[in-house]
Amino acid sequence: MHLARRIDRIEPSITLALAARARALAASGRDIVSMAVGEPDFPAPAIVRETAAERARSGDVRYTPAAGLPSLRAALAAYLERTRGGAWQAESVTVCHSAKHALAASILSIVEDGDEVLIPLPAWASYFDLVRLAGAEPVLVPSPCDAAGFHPDLDALSAACTPRTRAILINSPNNPSGTVWSRGEIEAVANLAAERDLWLISDEIYRELCYDGVEAASPASISPAVRERTIVIDGASKAFAMTGYRIGYLAAPPEFAAAVAKLSSQTNGSPNTIAQVCYERALTEWPPELETMRSAFSERRTLLLGGLAELGLFTPEPAGAFYAFPEITPYLGDFADSGSTGFCEALLEAEGLALVPGSAFGTDTHVRLSYATSTENIEEALGRLATFLGK
Ligand SMILES: Cc1ncc(COP(=O)(O)O)c(C=O)c1O
Repeated sequence: MHLARRIDRIEPSITLALAARARALAASGRDIVSMAVGEPDFPAPAIVRETAAERARSGDVRYTPAAGLPSLRAALAAYLERTRGGAWQAESVTVCHSAKHALAASILSIVEDGDEVLIPLPAWASYFDLVRLAGAEPVLVPSPCDAAGFHPDLDALSAACTPRTRAILINSPNNPSGTVWSRGEIEAVANLAAERDLWLISDEIYRELCYDGVEAASPASISPAVRERTIVIDGASKAFAMTGYRIGYLAAPPEFAAAVAKLSSQTNGSPNTIAQVCYERALTEWPPELETMRSAFSERRTLLLGGLAELGLFTPEPAGAFYAFPEITPYLGDFADSGSTGFCEALLEAEGLALVPGSAFGTDTHVRLSYATSTENIEEALGRLATFLGK
């Protein structure tokens, strides 16, 4: 079969391969506990489900403009004013059929073949492949880690810049570590982007999920000049538990938002109409289930972090998202060749516990546990991990 070379540039997801193995083991009768999922285990809020049903029943489900429903774009502009500050126009927003689509379309609109995009690690695995798919090179820059989380390494980022660098792709709160960068850290990375005349792609999909009073900062809030080079990526999947609705957006200077809408009009037509109507309603009414979900995550986070500490695993503070990313370096001796992937495979085979290896995020010394799962599952998972580690 003839396939385009760009398909060979991207890797199948390690996460999906492990999930498939976990499913196969479960199908064969093994009792599997998964801490690997990357989506809320809550249903979408009631008004979202009602709106979806009503709209579908009404039969009024037509194409919308490629950039999205004007009323949703206006609702997103109002949300951005509330949360990122400054004045936002609907023209700054292009609705996409997910945050992932917004990322893909933004990257395609920025890079040429052979260009480079700087990605501080750890980072969501899809970034690497989306950049490669666009013909560019992801340049992975490790970030020093301490109890407060992973911090941007300004010197390393600066040293990694070349004449082909086009953008820095950041993600706070971060998947997989849960790290939330301080405003000062965001500002420092933004200053570097300004010095080198780079775009700053800021994936803020976990913004609404922060704990202990922490608030995630956005480069779009730093200054008008920084906002001019910032592309905010966001969506309904995590904050509104709407993963399967597939709806997200990007917010950027209007000229850039229009360029992405042009691309999207040819590759995607327009975003899903029902999902857009649901997203608008969720944004304008802010259903109470959101706080219920966030506080459930907060309790589970405390439970999980306590358990990991008892196991003696060092876990950098995950102030946001719904992941913990403990370090497993002391246990990697047995997995010299296979690293965190081998550790997770062995854990799955021996104890029936599915985690995601840090290798999927460019950081082989850690593993990711998602606490978007019940407290019973978290307790069971901690017990299995203890047995595996010989505790
Ligand atoms: C960091 C990050 N960005 C984007 C996404 C994708 O979100 P969406 O469901 O809107 O495509 C995810 C999903 O796991 C994610 O973890």
